[in-house]
Amino acid sequence: MQEPKYKRVVLKISGEALAGEKEFGIDQDVINSIADEIKEIRECGIDVAVVVGGGNIWRGRNSPQMDRATADYMGMLATVINALALQDALEKRNIETRVQTAIEMKEIAEPYIRRRAMRHLEKGRVVIFAAGTGNPFFSTDTAAALRAAEIEADVILLAKKVDGVYDSDPMKNPNAQKFDSLEYIDILNRGLGVMDSTATSLCMDNKIPIIVFGINKAGNIKKAALGENIGTFVKG
Ligand code: GTP
Repeated sequence: MQEPKYKRVVLKISGEALAGEKEFGIDQDVINSIADEIKEIRECGIDVAVVVGGGNIWRGRNSPQMDRATADYMGMLATVINALALQDALEKRNIETRVQTAIEMKEIAEPYIRRRAMRHLEKGRVVIFAAGTGNPFFSTDTAAALRAAEIEADVILLAKKVDGVYDSDPMKNPNAQKFDSLEYIDILNRGLGVMDSTATSLCMDNKIPIIVFGINKAGNIKKAALGENIGTFVKG
């Protein structure tokens, strides 16, 4: 078996990715294939924590008529829905999984407790972090950066609809060029839209590398976790 490059990873799954070809909601086939891949990387002995977005259900920042904080809290609730769907799919594959929420809702899931999350990971459980950072004005990418720093993850695997970081939006510009590798400061200086600046600076300050890759292709999560050259590598 290939020796994994990373011992502990944070997998960030955007909400949009969970919608698959649908405009809205959860595509069960997508959740199933993500769960299959998480199972594979767990079986390689890699500790897996997951941060899920919520954009397939609600996007706070696209609701300009609403108070931003309220819209963001609605987005955090959306991530909890996604987290529970992923937990269900993982448990159907006999993978012990714990959901921890950054906003307490004890009847639904455990509250986020760092030391407890670390213990779950040491026991081989997958931990899904839901409700972002628990604060409005922070993205789930920032939650991924924060949790990665807290649980001492080796890398963030940023699973996206596009297959890496480009110099302009590849959906709009057919001549957009993909980067194989980058430094965080380039993302900030060039205003590349891969991550917001809060998440980018947090990763830069804490020297956490990110692999940005496309989730649409089966096998990519495993490749990224094993340290194969896919997507764009952002150096920590
Ligand atoms: P260990 O102490 O390492 O054995 O971990 P554990 O998670 O198995 O122990 P615990 O008895 O704390 O949890 C048992 C189950 O209850 C797990 O599925 C937890 O996710 C769940 N659980 C624990 N705390 C809470 C909580 O505050 N709210 C909810 N809804 N579930 C919880």
